[in-house]
Amino acid sequence: MSIHIGAREGEIAETVLLPGDPLRARFVAENWLQDVRQYNEVRGMLGYTGLWKGERISVQGSGMGMPSLAIYVNELLRFYGVRRLIRIGSCGAIQAGIAVHDLILAMSASTSSAMNRERFRGMDYAATASWHLFRRALAVLEEKGIPFHAGNILSSDTFYDDDPDAWRVWANHGVLAIEMEANQLYTLAARHQAEALALLTVSDSLITSEELSPDERQGSFHVMVEVALETALERARRT
Ligand code: HPA
Repeated sequence: MSIHIGAREGEIAETVLLPGDPLRARFVAENWLQDVRQYNEVRGMLGYTGLWKGERISVQGSGMGMPSLAIYVNELLRFYGVRRLIRIGSCGAIQAGIAVHDLILAMSASTSSAMNRERFRGMDYAATASWHLFRRALAVLEEKGIPFHAGNILSSDTFYDDDPDAWRVWANHGVLAIEMEANQLYTLAARHQAEALALLTVSDSLITSEELSPDERQGSFHVMVEVALETALERARRT
């Protein structure tokens, strides 16, 4: 057991899907996995392990924002032998060609957070997705004919910014969308020689002010979960 995860050694699979919302972790476990066992309920941050097409996989809530995600990812990597982490989350689009429900594959994650500024003593680190997971996700998307965008995203510490135009400098440099977790996921995975990828569905657009209700998010969430599970399966079979 670690401080924030109540699992025993061996109860968590080498591959973990990471939704921000713990209830989404439960939803994935109940609707996609077989022989499911819940291994965590500390702080309500639910975690489950089960089988997907015969392959062991876990799904763990990460909470919102990088400080929360970093606690869970650190413990998964340091204490439970996790090797592959796939975030399944939502984001706000900041490019005109990206609409709600679209799927984004985050090749890299810039950040406005101070977390990496401290880690790298003021220098800049290019937090990057794992090539192995990225190419498997790409293969799954292409084989299924699912449209997607791939590129740089922004991991921010703030959902509500006092400056309504703060995102524009990132948009001007080609950043596709804003979320709040991937930068630390990629950084920590690299630090522990593990693999990480963030798959995101667009829940709102800062350009058009379109916004999906929680109910409307379900459809694109389903597609994203299937892509994440197939990516995990493909990667596990080729390890
Ligand atoms: N900003 C930050 N995180 C988000 C957003 C956003 O607009 N939409 C979904 N997650």
